[in-house]
Amino acid sequence: MIFQGYDIPSEQRNGGIAVEHAIVKTISLKKQYKTGTQTVAALDGVDFEVKEREFVSIIGKSGCGKSTLLHMLGGLDKPDSGTVVVDGMNLSEMDEEELALFRRRKAGFVFQQYNLIPDLDVCDNITFPLKLDGVRPDEGLVGELLSSLHIADKAQMFPAMLSGGEQQRVAIARALAARPAIILADEPTGSLDTLASHDVIGLLKVMAKKYQQTLIVVTHDLDIAQMADRIVRLKDGKLWNGGGFYAGK
Ligand SMILES: Nc1ncnc2c1ncn2[C@@H]1O[C@H](COP(=O)(O)OP(=O)(O)OP(=O)(O)O)[C@@H](O)[C@H]1O
Ligand SMILES: [Mg+2]
Repeated sequence: MIFQGYDIPSEQRNGGIAVEHAIVKTISLKKQYKTGTQTVAALDGVDFEVKEREFVSIIGKSGCGKSTLLHMLGGLDKPDSGTVVVDGMNLSEMDEEELALFRRRKAGFVFQQYNLIPDLDVCDNITFPLKLDGVRPDEGLVGELLSSLHIADKAQMFPAMLSGGEQQRVAIARALAARPAIILADEPTGSLDTLASHDVIGLLKVMAKKYQQTLIVVTHDLDIAQMADRIVRLKDGKLWNGGGFYAGK
């Protein structure tokens, strides 16, 4: 098992940095992008922590680094410096193969674009990443996801037959089917109207609580952000309000 090397007591991992209770932790995370003569500090020293089963929303202006941060947390991209620890695993020390495994087994991604495969029906769209990973889908769980997300009657339909909200719910089911420890959503309601947005986030929240998952949602929409347990604001690549403030919901 490729994660075996990380299976050591939390206080011994990462040069002695204790990670208990925090399922996600970043330390002095930095990422710059250089284009021509310009250098942009997309992340400029981010220290960020998310507790197990917490629902955190990340808000901030366009270009402040929200997607960059989410990509680092999901092992989609690597920081220039700093540390990312997720579920006791130090992503900063992983090679590409380990990161690919981490993404498939530990993180569930939901993006603004649903990225469904047009030729596969809803059920196959949900299960194909598992099959690619050589894992037999848990049919009970898939059925439960379909009904909890109110798309059970669409199981045999193709993406083109579904509304935007329904397609996003399929994408959520796909993200949850592998029972990931963390769900990372980047503007998941960016293509939906207000009603469908609240519906999608409400269901995402219910599902994350039900399966005891940690949920991190990047959004421009303050109403959506306030559905989280805690709101964190990014500004110019830095956390603006430290650990964030509690939305009280
Ligand atoms: N691949 C890249 N090459 C060059 N610059 C990049 C790249 N990705 C991001 N950036 C820059 O890094 C900064 C942060 O980008 P990021 O996508 O994280 O912002 P964001 O907060 O998600 O914005 P939005 O709300 O518009 O999605 C921006 O200035 C962006 O232009
Ligand atoms: Mg973005």
